[in-house]
This record gives sequence, structure tokens and C-alpha cells, in this order.
Amino acid sequence: MVRAPNHVAHPRRPPAPPTRAAHPRRPPAPPTRAAQPRRPTASPNRVAQPRRPTAPPNRAAQPRRPTAPPARGCARRPPSRAPAGAPHTSGHVQDVDECAVRTAPTHAPRAPHPPPAYRRGVTDAVFPPGFFDRADPSPDTDFYGPPRLVTHIDDRAIAAVGALYAELGLDGEVLDLCSSWISHFTTPPRRLVGLGMNEAELAANPLLAAHVVHDLNTDPSLPFDDGSFDDATCCVSVDYLVEPVAVLREVARVLRPGGRFVVTFSNRCFPTKAIRGWLASDDETHLQIVNAFFALSEGFGQVTGALRTPPGTPGDPLYAVWAAAL
Ligand SMILES: C[S@@+](CC[C@H](N)C(=O)[O-])C[C@H]1O[C@@H](n2cnc3c(N)ncnc32)[C@H](O)[C@@H]1O
Repeated sequence: MVRAPNHVAHPRRPPAPPTRAAHPRRPPAPPTRAAQPRRPTASPNRVAQPRRPTAPPNRAAQPRRPTAPPARGCARRPPSRAPAGAPHTSGHVQDVDECAVRTAPTHAPRAPHPPPAYRRGVTDAVFPPGFFDRADPSPDTDFYGPPRLVTHIDDRAIAAVGALYAELGLDGEVLDLCSSWISHFTTPPRRLVGLGMNEAELAANPLLAAHVVHDLNTDPSLPFDDGSFDDATCCVSVDYLVEPVAVLREVARVLRPGGRFVVTFSNRCFPTKAIRGWLASDDETHLQIVNAFFALSEGFGQVTGALRTPPGTPGDPLYAVWAAAL
């Protein structure tokens, strides 16, 4: 197995933060469950089918750049700094050694899909300007054009992902967002559907029953019906999303009520494609950032965040943030 030769390390020192502090300006408000009207619940027998064929986004309109050389890999980020005085956001993120599984909230009402402009406004009010910018703003279809049949985290971190999926019992119909050739389940779920950027990587994934190539940064909507999945996952990829709150809102839509969305990440990334706010912040802040994405989406209940590898040990750390759809 090839170990991420192209996953360029995070620079030893994070790049200069955006002109304003790279963390939420104020704590995200918890989802206002009581105020949200309930959305119709999907038929439990519905199969997760792509709603429409996936087309390469805006190919004609966007000039194609030469393919990025695949050897610009993920660099390891500096070790997590102590969150000196950085409070956890609104108490939503648990202590980093918290490993408890949260049960799905009893069914609070689901919110209707909001107008995108409103959503963007809420996100902009929380994160500083430039937070979602990237060093390489060219179409993701260029960067992710060449298949990368590599692993992006070490074996221990991969095992931690699989162990969490098993602990949470992700065994039904599962959507793997930002998927590639490997999905880290120790026991395959009943039906796994992958969404990612590279057809060859997805086709090589032995666990996927179906897959779709779809650029979430040009279209954060998911090509699936409401309530199509029992659970969803996104491994070491949330830092590449320029509209993560819109994507999480969509994940909540395609999940059945109570379905978990499990976001995992480490301290490696493709730095030119990661959002600046992520590069400029440490591991502890990443937990809070992802927590804020969940809260701002208003589609999930209580959020749990945890370091899933033993603290202070060598190797890639594996963090997870998860919550159940309302
Ligand atoms: C570091 S890899 C992780 C792959 C896989 N989840 C894993 O655990 O090995 C990042 C993945 O994010 C996906 N990705 C990046 N940008 C994306 C976008 N705009 N839309 C959808 N997927 C994207 C890529 O296809 C790539 O497979």
C-alpha cells in the first residue's frame, strides 16, 4: 500500500492566517430545534439512488489548467497546541478524550431547506473573511483529476476510523462523502454509496455498491433524495469544502432522522486545496470549527467531538466529530 506520496505536508508553520482571526468570531448558536417545522420523513424502504446523472461542473465555462503534479502531498501539521484559554464552543464539543457514543436525539422537528443566500449570510457572520479561501482556487476537477490510490493517514488512524464506525454501528445504508478507493469500514455496511471527485478511485473501492462523481465545491447539493441513508461519513476531507455548512445541511436532508454524520480528520492535508481557516488553526480549533459547521447547518442534534487515537502518542492523530440528523 502506498503511503500518500502526493499528500503534501502541512507546512511546519501554518501559513499566515486570514487578516482576521481564523476561528469562529463568536460561538455558533445551537440548533433551535423547537422552532423548526418538521420535514416529511422518507420511506424507510427508499433506496439511495442518484437523483440525476453527474455531469462535470461548468466544464465549458471554466478554462482547464494543467493538471497539478500529484507529488504535492499532504504535510503533517505541527503537533496540536494546548488550547490555551480557548474555550470549547458552547459546550457542544466534548473533551477531546471523550469517546462516548451519543444516542440519536428524539425527534425534534426538521427544518425546511433554507434559501442559500441566508445560509451563506449566517456562515459569513461567524467565520472571518478569507476563511474559506484556498491557495489554489482553480477547479477541483483539475487537482483531483489524477487518481491517487494512496492512503492519507497512517494505519493506526485508519484503524481508529474503522473502530469508530463499528462502535457507532454504521451498518445500514451509508453515504461516504469525499470518498476514494478506501472507506475504512472494518465490517462493510449493508449498502455503501460513495461520492467523490475521481472516477477511477471510486471504481477501485471494493466496498462501494454505487458511486457518483460530484464536485461539492461547485454544487454543494447532494444528488440523492431526502432520507436516502441511515448514516453518512466524511474522512479526512472536510477541510477541502468551501461551503461546508451547505453540504452539512444537505447531508441532514439525505439522512433519515437519527442518522449519524461522522466527520473524521487528522493533521495532514493538501495545503493548496484546504481552506485557509483550517490551515491557520490547530487540531483543537478544528474540533470547534467542525462543530460550528454542524451547528450552523441546523440539521443535527447534539454534536460530539473526540480525539480517537491515544493522546500524546506518535503517529497521525485521528479526530472525529459526529451528530445525528434531526
Ligand atoms: C484526502 S482525500 C480522502 C479520501 C478518502 N475519504 C480517504 O479517507 O482516504 C480527499 C478526498 O476528498 C475528495 N474531494 C476533494 N474536494 C472535493 C469536492 N470539491 N467535492 C467532492 N469531493 C471532494 C477527493 O475526491 C478526495 O478523494
